[in-house]
Amino acid sequence: MVLAGGSGQRIGLATPKQLLKIAGKTILEHTLTVFERAERVDEVIVMMNPGFVGDAEAIVRKAGLTKVSRILPGGTSRNATTQLALDALSHYAVDNTNVLFHDAVRPMLSQRIIDDCVTALETHHAVDVAIPSSDTIIEVDDDLITDVPIRSRLRRGQTPQAFRLSTIRAAYAKAWQDAGFTATDDCSVVLRYTPQVPIHVVTGEEQNMKVTQPVDIFIADKLFQLATSATPEYSEEDYIRELSGKTVVVFGGS
Ligand code: CTP
Repeated sequence: MVLAGGSGQRIGLATPKQLLKIAGKTILEHTLTVFERAERVDEVIVMMNPGFVGDAEAIVRKAGLTKVSRILPGGTSRNATTQLALDALSHYAVDNTNVLFHDAVRPMLSQRIIDDCVTALETHHAVDVAIPSSDTIIEVDDDLITDVPIRSRLRRGQTPQAFRLSTIRAAYAKAWQDAGFTATDDCSVVLRYTPQVPIHVVTGEEQNMKVTQPVDIFIADKLFQLATSATPEYSEEDYIRELSGKTVVVFGGS
């Protein structure tokens, strides 16, 4: 399930960020192409921002993406979109269906991560993808620190998040009975509402970044150019030579 129901308010353009182009293609097309190439993925369903379903259809048609079976309107929150995705799978057998939920705006997902998630589902019912945090994470109440959790125990959650269909269905069925239910991902729904299910963690990658802020478009564009250019414009040695003996200001730091 490729979740593309959002509008990208933090980027703040009229076009949802999944339809912005990086390295010559929309972010959505980059993401769908990764799943098209994934040997162990049989079918892809796109949950699209309701005002842009036609744009997604045109992208899929033009790119000839054969695994995309349906493009459906998403909901008003990420969790509502996940529920609509689960509704779309209502006729699938719960016993032998695995489902991966991926943010459409993480276009640099690797085949290795997809493969590790699918393998992990052979022995686990719920799987997350996460990376260590380089930054110290602080907990705040307004502008005062309330806690500084031990960094080595913290991870930054990414997607895909992978589940046996029966597991994620059961968690969401319980979650909607809670009037105060809100979450920004799907593993936290399993953790909170079906706490007996252990959630396995697969190691993610820095490149599997979520395009969220305006600067991310620039970073993602550069990363794609580096990944796809046969002869990189800049070698590591060039870079070190250029930097040696100089003070370099990068995004306001030095
Ligand atoms: N998403 C979705 N349905 C929603 C909201 C979000 O399918 N109602 C998807 C987004 O399209 C995105 C992923 O969930 O691929 C991660 O969400 P986020 O980065 O928060 O996207 P947006 O909600 O679009 O961003 P913002 O919060 O800046 O508006």
